[in-house]
Amino acid sequence: MVENTGSIEALLREDRVFPPPAQFAEQANMPDSGIYERARQDPEGFWAGLAGELDWFEKWDQVLDWNPPFAKWFVGGKLNVSYNCIDRHLKTARKNKAAIIWEGEPGDWAVYTYQDLYREVCKAANGLQSLGVSKGDRVTIYLPMVPELPIAMLACARIGAAHSVVFGGFSADSLRDRINDSQSKVMITADGGYRRGGVVPLKQNADDSVTGDTPIEKMLVVRRTGTSDDRMVEGRDVWWHDLMANQPMTFEPEQMDSEDMLFMLYTSGTTGKPKGIVHTTGGYLTGTHATTKWVFDLKEDDVYWCTADIGWVTGHSYIVYGPLANGATSVMYEGSPDYPDRDRFWAIVEKYACTILYTAPTAIRTFMRWGEEYPNRHDMSSLRLLGSVGEPINPEAWVWYWQNIGGGRCPVVDTWWQTETGSILITPLPGVTTLKPGSATHPFPGIEVDVLDEAGNSVGPGGGGYLVIKRPWPSMLRTIYGDDERFREQYWSKYENIYFTGDGAKIDEDGYHWILGRVDDVINVAAHRVSTMEVESALVDNSKVAEAACIGRSDEIKGQAIVAFVTIKENVAASDELITELKQHVATKIGPICRPDDIHFAAELPKTRSGKIMRRLLRDVAEGRALGDTTTLADPAVVESLKAQYGDEE
Ligand code: WT7
Repeated sequence: MVENTGSIEALLREDRVFPPPAQFAEQANMPDSGIYERARQDPEGFWAGLAGELDWFEKWDQVLDWNPPFAKWFVGGKLNVSYNCIDRHLKTARKNKAAIIWEGEPGDWAVYTYQDLYREVCKAANGLQSLGVSKGDRVTIYLPMVPELPIAMLACARIGAAHSVVFGGFSADSLRDRINDSQSKVMITADGGYRRGGVVPLKQNADDSVTGDTPIEKMLVVRRTGTSDDRMVEGRDVWWHDLMANQPMTFEPEQMDSEDMLFMLYTSGTTGKPKGIVHTTGGYLTGTHATTKWVFDLKEDDVYWCTADIGWVTGHSYIVYGPLANGATSVMYEGSPDYPDRDRFWAIVEKYACTILYTAPTAIRTFMRWGEEYPNRHDMSSLRLLGSVGEPINPEAWVWYWQNIGGGRCPVVDTWWQTETGSILITPLPGVTTLKPGSATHPFPGIEVDVLDEAGNSVGPGGGGYLVIKRPWPSMLRTIYGDDERFREQYWSKYENIYFTGDGAKIDEDGYHWILGRVDDVINVAAHRVSTMEVESALVDNSKVAEAACIGRSDEIKGQAIVAFVTIKENVAASDELITELKQHVATKIGPICRPDDIHFAAELPKTRSGKIMRRLLRDVAEGRALGDTTTLADPAVVESLKAQYGDEE
């Protein structure tokens, strides 16, 4: 038991547990652990209570309509998400409270009060409407981390159009696929965004994504870097500042059905084609509102900072919708953590006196490597709670975070969830839960999870298996955009009427949940999801490549790194230049996050007799391990020679 935090030796014992600090527990929003039992006995009543904390134009007449795998929550209810995130706060003391504190990478900043946000969102809704956006449309948003991004999302929500935010690190090709799949008529982008002192050429990518046949009719462009003034296309492109200059400052929020689509967000799956995950209005907002309030113990005077990019679901749920629905102050930062120096995050924490910080293990491991010197430069005594998300956090990183960022006073909430789940599903409740470093601890009240074996039996304490969710929850995905069949196949076909997460997990003797990582062909690189198939198709798209197989190998900083085994065509010579070319090819095709870390040339790839590539064996080779079972291989010599060639490289 670690009572206090003073000595690092105490923290380095193997059976570390961290009960809630007494001071924290006393003031926690959630001091009552009885909530778990009450939610178990009446999950629908529990969720209905939380939905009731939102403002509804019309109340629902049925909490849940469950026609597996299709769920409808708060059926018949009417609400608007932008109204809930803005208008309702204007009637309270929050009117002049900071809603968004934004800082750009070069050091510029802006503060938007709830009243400011209201005006900007209304203007943007009017502006979008004048470009032809109406209820039921999809709008693609390809922006850097600037205030116009949440403003555009809320404006879409106000109109009743669904947004599809595409992360600014994606390439023109990736953007094109997503535009075509969503059939957006309007795209919102910027000339560029700042990253590590350089400019990301967003407008150029946006232009390249709409060549040839495209549904895009209008492009709305935010002027951020001043680098694309010559790129504006007459008749198609409109500057954001020109369009907003004369828009009315009010806009009546559309009364949306609880089950109307709020947004879609593409994520990588086990095939090459990204999936458009569909989230709807009432259930999504209920889930993000409640989890933000309880998991982050949100109080009126908190300054809350989630360091994710809004291009990922973490930013949607925990920079924009969850915090704003709660009337919180949400900090937003445009750039990288090492610009101009490696203390940038801690400078931001000090400058705005952040009280809550939510970031990813890959960032924490990077800070660990950089050393304590950087956080030690700043006064971070304002912090009272820390969060982690995106991948398993190793206990060493957890303890380092607790000690060096949290000063040994701040509970660390390790939150497990997915793009598909919409909001946090497995997490400590700070003030209630005794923490174990590396464990996401327990399902949120109302969430029923289990760990199953191949046959669908619970594996019981200590055993590893597949993580599943056994009953529907309000913020669950409703389908894959335009592809109900793939939705069924992907998540609901392994077990009947049970949601399959794609993660492995175990539950220990004390009932704590430990996430073991993906069990499918998805790699988790620096808390981003990359599909092995997507990288493989980008590689074979290069004319010198005959065949490719990708795997994730463990990496100290990024969690996993991408390793590709490539068979080149007969007339092509293997060389270091070719390796560089292929890595760049993937970065250009999909985006820099998908650039392989290692490329190995292979005369042949290890396959089963039926022709299936055995990635498990490639993983053994890449991680320098003894080879697992090779009896199903068509030709065992193939993998032996790969091992001889690459096995000892690490
Ligand atoms: C996958 C979902 C959810 C927001 C960011 C990623 C992994 C996520 C944790 C955690 C262990 C985690 C899982 C999951 N993951 N959080 N706390 N501990 N693993 O969203 O891109 O949809 O990825 O991230 O493997 O399935 P995503």
